[in-house]
Amino acid sequence: MRILLLCSEFEGLIKTGGLADACKGIASGLQAAGHQVTIMLPRYSNLYSRPTGDWQSVFVELDGQQYGCAVRQLKFAGLDVRLVEHDDFFRRERPYDDGSYGYADNPLRFAFFCKAALAWCRQYLPEVDLIHGHDWQTALTASYLQQHYGSDPILAKVPFIFTIHNGAYQLTCDKSWFGRLGIAANGDEFLNMLEQGVRAATKVVTVSQGYRHELLTEPAANGLAQLYQGRAADFYGILNGCDYQQWDPATDLALVKNYSPADLSGKAACKAFIRHRFHLADTEAPLFVAVSRITGQKGYDYLIPALRNWLPTTSAQVFIVGSGELHYCRQLYQLADEFPEQFRFYEGFDESLAHQTEAAGDFFLMPSLFEPCGLNQLYSLKYGTVPIVRLTGGLKDTVLPWPAANATGIGFTEISLDAMHQALQQAEQLFAVPADYLAVQRQGMQQNFSWQAAVTEYLHVYQQALN
Ligand code: ADP
Ligand code: GLC
Repeated sequence: MRILLLCSEFEGLIKTGGLADACKGIASGLQAAGHQVTIMLPRYSNLYSRPTGDWQSVFVELDGQQYGCAVRQLKFAGLDVRLVEHDDFFRRERPYDDGSYGYADNPLRFAFFCKAALAWCRQYLPEVDLIHGHDWQTALTASYLQQHYGSDPILAKVPFIFTIHNGAYQLTCDKSWFGRLGIAANGDEFLNMLEQGVRAATKVVTVSQGYRHELLTEPAANGLAQLYQGRAADFYGILNGCDYQQWDPATDLALVKNYSPADLSGKAACKAFIRHRFHLADTEAPLFVAVSRITGQKGYDYLIPALRNWLPTTSAQVFIVGSGELHYCRQLYQLADEFPEQFRFYEGFDESLAHQTEAAGDFFLMPSLFEPCGLNQLYSLKYGTVPIVRLTGGLKDTVLPWPAANATGIGFTEISLDAMHQALQQAEQLFAVPADYLAVQRQGMQQNFSWQAAVTEYLHVYQQALN
């Protein structure tokens, strides 16, 4: 098949979270399965230093203006990547926000991206079989295909598959945008980009069965439950995979020492490395880690007070790596002040540190309020860093909580300080019995969440869409 994959992040090129990992995993998996994939994404500032090859120009009419733009080819990791270049819209350091607020012209920027992608595809990739878009940033492609290309000899029959990686990000703007972006008004007070995608896509996918189920009801659906219900027959849950070429402690180049389930000795060196770098004492007590976007989604509202209650009762240490919302970052710094022997926070986005932290931890904290799939728990399983998860969405689908036979992690359900506290205590109990801890660790390391399996399911959905 000839597949055009539209996304706003791609691992190795631009990343703010798991969307990047997932788009790379899907694209590489499809290509490995023998399909021809072209990946299209905006050319952000950091991508100007990369040498590009062929280029084409396309014209887009939007908001009463004519825009020209270049689409440049980039060879990356053996993949065919096309960068949509428009200095005003995309030549910015950060894809969606200035660090504090979303860019006010996001509706225009991403409508432009969708329109440019279709214009380019129509002209330069007429043999395309299917377009696969990811998240709200690509959602208007579905509406444009339906409303602008309905009788086009090339694009009218091309299905659009829409994967929702996070249903909480919808990008809603006032109704004047319907006219400005050339989208048929539907009587709503707001134009909701995600909603447009769900309505007009041929098939809708989300990144786990658990999250698919949650999206069928409120409040998890953030106002779109009825819409998901209406599309239930065309709505699939496909669990993300893990790129074990990037995330395998046996081969990971970011680690000071590699290790495997058969020989875990290198993990101690990885732990010592992080402790030393962040001035934490070398003790027998466990090290709890987290790597995440610092947002409400990841449970910081109750994780932080739960840690404040728990840390005085234990000699365990906690190390958190992340970047995001200022008010949580402040509280994390505050915690570091309060517990100088036990708590560290590294603020920043640092991919090798993410790998080193995964390897260093005895436990990985993931108390998410919701989690469409979650990749960090998959990385944690592989790295023998027992995940502590709230059993929601993809976390529930991928972690089997202790004390079940064959458990791979610690799990809890309630969003409360008590439940979090108990989970932390359970982790300590487990750690206190080395044979039990090792069994859970090994069981986790043996799990296999391959992209190959995910891609097989995507191909099934593609087939359904083409029928
Ligand atoms: P989400 O997509 O909701 O952020 P996931 O668990 O699916 O959550 O994926 C997060 C991805 O982003 C992982 O690859 C993780 O390692 C990475 N990541 C998150 N925060 C950071 C950070 N501060 N530095 C480096 N990588 C990070
Ligand atoms: C989103 C979700 C996360 C998921 C990732 C990749 O950012 O929050 O749960 O793993 O996308 O699909």
